[in-house]
Amino acid sequence: MKILLLGSGGREHALAWKIAKSSHCSCLFIAPGNAGTQQCGTNINIGVNDFESQKKFCLENNIEMVVVGPEEPLVKGIYDFYTSDERLGNIIVIGPSAYGAQLEGSKAFSKKFMQRQNIPTAAYAEFTSENFDEGKKYIAAHSLPVVLKADGLAAGKGVVIAATHEDALNSFEEMILKRQFGDASSKVVIEQFLDGIETSVFVLTDGKDYKIIGHAKDYKRVGEGDTGLNTGGMGCVSPVPFVDDVFMGKVIGNIIEPTINGFAKENIVYKGFVFFGLIKVGDEPYVIEYNCRMGDPETEVVMPRLKNDIVDLFLAVHNSSLNSIDVSYDERACATVVAVSGGYPGDYCKGLAVAGLKELATTAETIVFHAGTKQSGNEILTNGGRVFAVTSYGNNIGDAVRKSKTVLGQFYFDGMYFRKDIGYEFA
Ligand code: AMP
Ligand code: GLY
Repeated sequence: MKILLLGSGGREHALAWKIAKSSHCSCLFIAPGNAGTQQCGTNINIGVNDFESQKKFCLENNIEMVVVGPEEPLVKGIYDFYTSDERLGNIIVIGPSAYGAQLEGSKAFSKKFMQRQNIPTAAYAEFTSENFDEGKKYIAAHSLPVVLKADGLAAGKGVVIAATHEDALNSFEEMILKRQFGDASSKVVIEQFLDGIETSVFVLTDGKDYKIIGHAKDYKRVGEGDTGLNTGGMGCVSPVPFVDDVFMGKVIGNIIEPTINGFAKENIVYKGFVFFGLIKVGDEPYVIEYNCRMGDPETEVVMPRLKNDIVDLFLAVHNSSLNSIDVSYDERACATVVAVSGGYPGDYCKGLAVAGLKELATTAETIVFHAGTKQSGNEILTNGGRVFAVTSYGNNIGDAVRKSKTVLGQFYFDGMYFRKDIGYEFA
């Protein structure tokens, strides 16, 4: 099959690495890709939201399957664009419809969906400029801390956990009256703070049946000991020791099945990944958020542990035959450690030369996934805040993290930084 993968991060390098191993894949293109994805296929210079250029490319190159990495094209309706076009209609698109992608694209939509389907999540209310004063009263009476969320996509920056009512009111005003995130914050969800430990579970679904393809724990803060600013994710581990059979049983019974059954009951067209962002409060799982795509850097540990041919799973999504597939995982632990550019998640430089990559002495137990990189002649340059995600297999999490850190010690760019304590609670 000729497959087009959309995106350019570490997630997409891990997906490209996995798709390229498939017996179904004869040709893989990545748009726009990075310096790592070109080791797995051919990068093409088309943006993820440029549907018209993609259409032309797909028709000229007889593309048979499109796998969508990031959320933005999904929320913008890429699934509907392809499936409603008479010339593209035969292409298999892995991703939800625009309506289904609102699970990530609108916090208010996802909260209402969970309420309708009785899925455990934090109590909430939603406000706009129309009921702004009511929102202020709601905040003033709310227990602390209180969580404010911009309704729409805000590049991971739309969530505020306010320790005081004053901070909460200021953020509320910034979001709604000062349009801090533009249209994305014209509506704000205010919710109860849940105190617990987070983990994520990943599912592939055709909207009726599903398969769990893995789970992981992400380290979101930039600093060691989970301090400092929130990032897209500084590292991940899988499996997560507290995700045992009892907990997973509750996740399946209380969360995953009601979600997938909800898609079927509400006629939500959904043929792709669901990312369940969960928090364990006491012994019970709650949904913090849904994403309509895989996580980054979660994909960099989930794909290496998944033993199945990923395109088999994609074809089963298309053919409604997921139930005929057994999913199996590598027994070993996986950890990924992300190398970022100095200053990230604030301002950082791009275009820095990476030294030492060619001479790397890696074993089959370590994979260097590229995130924000680009090829320039013979050189690899940084091209983003998160630059690499180095994944290793190990006998346990500590062993896997140690191997990744050894490899991270062998290459360098100016200002390179990575957390040394990924997986610290489990090492
Ligand atoms: P979200 O974009 O909804 O995933 O939120 C980003 C992060 O904020 C989550 O990964 C959590 O760490 C935190 N968060 C979001 N909602 C809550 C909540 N209700 N209680 C506690 N922490 C939360
Ligand atoms: N690592 C979190 C995310 O992909 O949203």
